[in-house]
Amino acid sequence: MTILLTGGAGYIGSHTVIELQQAGHEVVVVDNLCNASEKSLERVQEITGKPVPFYPVDIRDRIGLEQVMEQYDFDCCIHFAGLKAVGESVAKPLEYYDNNISGTLVLLDVMRKHGCKNIIFSSSATVYGNPAVIPITEECPKGQCTNPYGQTKSMLEQIMTDMQKADPEWNVVLLRYFNPIGAHPSGKIGEDPNGIPNNLMPYITQVAVGKRAELGVFGDDYNTPDGTGVRDYIHVVDLANGHVKALSAIERNCGLAIYNLGTGQGYSVLDVVHAFEQANHLTIPYSIKPRRAGDIDACYSDPAKAERELGWKAQYGLLDMCRDSWNWQKNNPNGYQD
Ligand code: NAD
Ligand code: WQD
Repeated sequence: MTILLTGGAGYIGSHTVIELQQAGHEVVVVDNLCNASEKSLERVQEITGKPVPFYPVDIRDRIGLEQVMEQYDFDCCIHFAGLKAVGESVAKPLEYYDNNISGTLVLLDVMRKHGCKNIIFSSSATVYGNPAVIPITEECPKGQCTNPYGQTKSMLEQIMTDMQKADPEWNVVLLRYFNPIGAHPSGKIGEDPNGIPNNLMPYITQVAVGKRAELGVFGDDYNTPDGTGVRDYIHVVDLANGHVKALSAIERNCGLAIYNLGTGQGYSVLDVVHAFEQANHLTIPYSIKPRRAGDIDACYSDPAKAERELGWKAQYGLLDMCRDSWNWQKNNPNGYQD
C-alpha cells in the first residue's frame, strides 16, 4: 500500500516507518517538525536502506497538504501528527485544540477530496479516564479526561465516528495506545523530548545518563501493590507493528474499528525503576514526591481484541523495553543533536 504518515518524523511515527517499509509498503511523511528532527528520518533510511519521501508541511496548511496528496495515490493515512504534552495542554488549550482538532479536520477534508477514505488514528488510553474496570477492554465506556490533550483525543474519536457513520465509504481505525517506551534495537532512533521529560522512561534514562540527579516518584499511596502508579508499558516497536497489522482491518473494509494496543500487563513505577536497573546494571536514585495532578492508580489493557482480529500481540517484555531505551539514550545523550 502507499501510506501517508502525518507526524511520521516523531517518536512513534519514525518507528512505524521502519516496520511499514520492512513489510513492503511505500511510505510518505508529512511533519511540521514542531516536536521532531528530520534526522530521525535519515536514521530510518540508514536502518531500512530505503529513502523516506518527506514534506515539511503543517496539517493545518490545506494548500500544502493538497500539493502532497496530488503527487501520490494514497491507500491510507496513519495520523500521528499532534501535540501530546498533558501539562502544556492545560496551560495552552487553544493551541492544543487548534493543532489537534483543526489540523485533523483539514486533513480529513483534504483526504476526502482526494478519494482517500482510510485512516488509522493515534488515540490513547487517556480516553478511558479513570477506568471503571481493569484490565480495560474496548467496550469500557470512555471517561472524563482531566486535560485538553485528552479531550482532543476523545473529541477526534467522536468526529471520526460521526464521519464514518455519515459516509460508510470511510474506514476508521482508532488505536488506543497505552504507555509506549523503548526504542529501535539499533539504538539509532528513539524518544527525544524537549526540556525536562514529562514521562517516566525518558526521565529515568536522563537520570542514568547524568542529566538529572534523581527520579521523583509521584506518590506511593495509590491503591496498587506497592503504592506507586501502575501502567501498561509497551515497546514502541511492538506498537509500530500494531499499525502494520491494523492495515488488515482497512483492507477488509472494517468501517469503524477500535483496538487497544498494550501488553495487558501492568507494572508500577518502582517495577520499572528496578527492571531498568536489572536490565542495564545501573542504579537509579529516586525519592518519593507528592502525587501528580490528574494521575490515576492503575491503567492496563485487555489486548485480546487486537490479537483476535488483527493477529497482533506484543512480543517484547519490560526488560527489553528498558534495555532499548537505555541503548538509545547512552548512544545519543543529547538525542538527535548528537
Ligand atoms: P511526537 O511528538 O514524537 O510525534 C508527533 C509528531 O507530529 C511530531 O513529529 C510533530 O513534529 C508532528 N506534528 C505535531 N503537530 C503537527 C502539525 N500541525 N502538522 C504536522 N506535524 C505535526 O509524539 P509521539 O509520541 O510519536 O506520538 C504520536 C501520536 O501518538 C500523537 O498523536 C500522540 O498524541 C499519540 N499518542 C502518544 C502517546 C505517547 O505516550 N507517546 C500515547 C498515546 C497516544
Ligand atoms: C507513568 C507513571 C506517573 C514521571 C501519559 C499521558 C497519556 C499517554 C501516555 C499520550 C505515573 C509516574 C512519571 C516521573 C513518576 N500519552 N511518574 N515520575 O501519565 O500514564 O500517561 O503518557 O496519550 O495520555 O497522560 O505516563 O510516563 O507520565 O507516567 O513517578 O517523573 O510514572 O505518576 O504513575 P502516564 P507517564
